[in-house]
Amino acid sequence: MLSADSVKVAVRVRPFNQMEKDAGSRCIISVVLNSITVCDPRNRNNTKSFTFDLSYWSHSAFIKNEEGILIPDGPTSRYADQRRVFDDLGQEVLNNAWKGYNATLLAYGQTGSGKSYSMIGYGPDRGIIPLTCDELFKATKQNQEHDKQYQIYFSMLEIYNEKVIDLLSKSKQPGGLKVRESPQKGFYVQDRKSVPCESYEQVEQLMKEGNKKRITASTNINTTSSRSHMIITIQFKQVFLKDHLTKQSDINLVDLAGSERQKTSGSEGDRLREGTAINLSLTTLGNVISALAEIAMGKKVLHVPYRNSTLTKLLQSALGGNSKTMMIATVSPADSCYEETLSTLRYAERTKNIQNKAVVNENPTERLILELRAENTKLRSTITKLRNSGQMVEEETKELRWSLAENELQMAEIQTSWVQRLEQARKEWEQQYQTLTQEKHMIQMFPYLSNVNVDPQLSAFVKLFIQDGETVIGQSRRSPQAIVIKGFGIADKHATITNLDNKVTLEPHGQAKVTLNGVLVLTKVQLRHLDRVILGSNSIYLYVGFLSERNGEEDFSKYDYDFFQSELAAVEGFDRDALGPACGNKKVDPSVLAVFLDYIRVKPMVVEVNQISEELNKDLKFELEVKNLALTDSRGQDLIKEVMVKVTNKMTHQVWVWSRAKFVNRKFIMEDIYQRFIDGENISLDRESDPFWDPIEAVHLGTAYVWLQSLNYCIAMEEHVEFHNSQGEEEAILQMNLVPCTPTGQPLGEDEILIDPTELVGQRLDFQVQITQCLGIKWLKQNIERGIQIRYHVLNHPHPFHTKPVWNTVNARIDQVMQFTVKSVSQELLNYLQNHALVLDLWGLQEGCIGISSSLGEVELTDEGSIIIDDVTPRLPSSVEIGDDQLSELYIKLSKLEQEIELLRDVNRTLREDNVTMKDTLKKMISDAPRKSLQHMNIQAFGTKGTPKASYEVEFAKALKAFYQSMNRVRSQLLGLRRHRPPDEDDVDRLRMYLDKQTRVIKDLGESFELCMNTLKNDVSHIIKKKKEHTLWSSVTK
Ligand SMILES: Nc1ncnc2c1ncn2[C@@H]1O[C@H](COP(=O)(O)OP(=O)(O)OP(=O)(O)O)[C@@H](O)[C@H]1O
Ligand SMILES: [Mg+2]
Repeated sequence: MLSADSVKVAVRVRPFNQMEKDAGSRCIISVVLNSITVCDPRNRNNTKSFTFDLSYWSHSAFIKNEEGILIPDGPTSRYADQRRVFDDLGQEVLNNAWKGYNATLLAYGQTGSGKSYSMIGYGPDRGIIPLTCDELFKATKQNQEHDKQYQIYFSMLEIYNEKVIDLLSKSKQPGGLKVRESPQKGFYVQDRKSVPCESYEQVEQLMKEGNKKRITASTNINTTSSRSHMIITIQFKQVFLKDHLTKQSDINLVDLAGSERQKTSGSEGDRLREGTAINLSLTTLGNVISALAEIAMGKKVLHVPYRNSTLTKLLQSALGGNSKTMMIATVSPADSCYEETLSTLRYAERTKNIQNKAVVNENPTERLILELRAENTKLRSTITKLRNSGQMVEEETKELRWSLAENELQMAEIQTSWVQRLEQARKEWEQQYQTLTQEKHMIQMFPYLSNVNVDPQLSAFVKLFIQDGETVIGQSRRSPQAIVIKGFGIADKHATITNLDNKVTLEPHGQAKVTLNGVLVLTKVQLRHLDRVILGSNSIYLYVGFLSERNGEEDFSKYDYDFFQSELAAVEGFDRDALGPACGNKKVDPSVLAVFLDYIRVKPMVVEVNQISEELNKDLKFELEVKNLALTDSRGQDLIKEVMVKVTNKMTHQVWVWSRAKFVNRKFIMEDIYQRFIDGENISLDRESDPFWDPIEAVHLGTAYVWLQSLNYCIAMEEHVEFHNSQGEEEAILQMNLVPCTPTGQPLGEDEILIDPTELVGQRLDFQVQITQCLGIKWLKQNIERGIQIRYHVLNHPHPFHTKPVWNTVNARIDQVMQFTVKSVSQELLNYLQNHALVLDLWGLQEGCIGISSSLGEVELTDEGSIIIDDVTPRLPSSVEIGDDQLSELYIKLSKLEQEIELLRDVNRTLREDNVTMKDTLKKMISDAPRKSLQHMNIQAFGTKGTPKASYEVEFAKALKAFYQSMNRVRSQLLGLRRHRPPDEDDVDRLRMYLDKQTRVIKDLGESFELCMNTLKNDVSHIIKKKKEHTLWSSVTK
């Protein structure tokens, strides 16, 4: 019974979460029948459509019924609730299982997109797994037959960091369970606990236990399902007693790890990236799916990389093998998740193509035993042969013995009666059942602290009941009435919690850290229903008050991990508004929301890493910062931001800056090392594999802008500009000149100043970047052992230019001159110079780092030794990939710009014509009028190439130069102002100082601007006056 069929793919869109609602996020997805369309938030005309086997709209048009279940809000609602999803997917799994096919359902999607909601569900909103189990038990009860027996086994595994953890096993398995391979079963997990079950309630309880193990399995670190894959396997056997026949189906229900935000930059460059298992399974799954999709499309693929990860080994039969497989891809509807949503849909689209060949697993029981026996005989003879051969075959024999033992175990299992095994499981179940009823009773009697995990699926599993009298919370079990918790920064005796006279109070011990509603607690405080409590660094709880305080319909899920972290961040003075302006209707720009989310997610990770570093004596301090990416944008636009982590060695004061992705990658490795340390392993790492170690490197300190506009007019500029760091603070002052010159490097005189830049079109342009000094360098004020180097890009030239390193001085003399040549100026170059700046980066050098190479490499030079710049298309950062959608947006902008340029060209043409007429008049005047009288009128005609120029033209150029110079100062003042960030809100003195400074800067800015404009006005009116006099004079002399 062989049938080849494709993997069935469904897509589901979830509702907005609270954060998205608060931020006024827009829904960018629409679903019509089975087709789903996503629109680019930056260009609404750019849409992408996909078609799947099933598409679920679970975003809107729903209400909560009296049981707390989300259902459609009316007969016309298209809301797909949990039951509807089950009816399609779960029911199909069941149908296949009854027929004896293996069935697999995978949930794939970005972190927080609704995988666990769909697979497991939350509270009364039960997902596919519970509903499938429930229906399976119901059906077996309804279909009882005299000579037929149903056997259902349940197992629950987690793959984390490539290790397999049995979530149902009570014993500790530091290295995880082994994945083995046998010719009969393919890959399988050795010693996996498979519990025989006879009711749905049992399965429900097993799932709870499994989730509890997920929270408590790792020491101190806040585990999250985002990084782990959970595989629930239901083995369903139909035993036909009379015929000695077994029909068996393995149902694999897989809640995959979240597909993290995929930024192309970041950890790409991390030297430890290759060695880590972070998401190895997920990446390999992607590769397997791609390979299988290609095979399905008729391409020749030599190798499907199943063996490269634990997950793909275990899913081998589900992907292209003996299984009826389905996938539910979950997506967020919000504009801030556009890229991730698109990538999920593309992934799902590829999966659609995979072809499986499922067979009915029907076996006579006796035949199975005979087969196993035969295999064992073979294994035994191989072992004997190997032993007799006298070779060193220790490892091979060990492996064969394992297989032998496994087969024997399997035979014993087949022969043990189902009834016996059920009896054994029943005993365990009764014990658990008691705990369950006890907990229900306690919830009614006492207030309690309920755990909150970064993964909502793992929240509310641990309840710390606050019984009457005083209870000590901490690591120690010594006190008679104690609540024992573990976690970072938890003291032996951390706090005392008292339940007296219908009041609960909490008091920290000594220096123990307790945070209540985001604020640090120093003395005894009273707890109120729904207070948020954090003990130590990361043990997070919601306080649920006395029964009398509770209102039966409260939704505790509102107080999730993000709520706690946003509250903490707000108390620290960091909220979404601090990141960027709201754009109309209180809407937050999607990119700002994404950074805010990154910030509140990475912040607690930084706290954990600081703790790990302290416990492992690493002497490193980690700090989270928001980096302004606009710093590298030559137009100085101010929106794109990214979080980054600054790492400082507390002893040597060396500094590193890690991207978010690099930090997350490193933390993953650190956690693993820390776990081994806690398990008592002797940790000794060489530098190369140490996640805390990195070679000393140059640190980016800040950026300065020098506007290029003056080159269009051949005006030499002397600049004093500030280097600003990513926080908007001044790091140093740069003194430099931007000097237009002759090919041999002679500065052009003031008489060469152009009023009409288009005169440059087609001409050669030479200019020098003269970097003189860098003053008041903060980096060196902190530590004089350090050095600096400046790096800059000129126009679109791919090669960055560097100054030489200067060490041990706060005021560094640099005196570097570089000359650049554009062989033929184009209109595009003029446009570029008009709007862009030269971006100079200040790099901090530290002891042990060699500095950035200042060799010029392969640059093209003129005969005079000047560097040639020949292409003026604006340079795009290499890390930015432009999609079709962005491209069309760029085209629209481009055509608009072209229209504007055309308009400007017209204006320019008219002006040039005027100019020519005026020049002609002047020439005529010079040749007609007696030389003396000209001198008398103070009109001088000069010009190096013999072209006469009226004095008012020179004066006009001079005025322009003065104007540009002063405008550049205004520009850098403005940039500084935009980057100036307020300090923590609770630090009133610093806030006042900040406000004073802000007021001063705004006042200065206003005055500078006024001055600029007035000077220009005066200069221009002076020139016009002169010109009028001149015109008058020429008409008189005619
Ligand atoms: N269809 C839905 N209807 C209502 N709420 C939903 C739906 N899907 C997801 N949610 C809510 O969104 C939040 C995140 O969902 P969930 O925990 O399922 O994400 P996930 O994909 O499993 O993320 P992770 O990769 O971090 O495990 C939860 O609070 C959940 O209740
Ligand atoms: Mg999940």
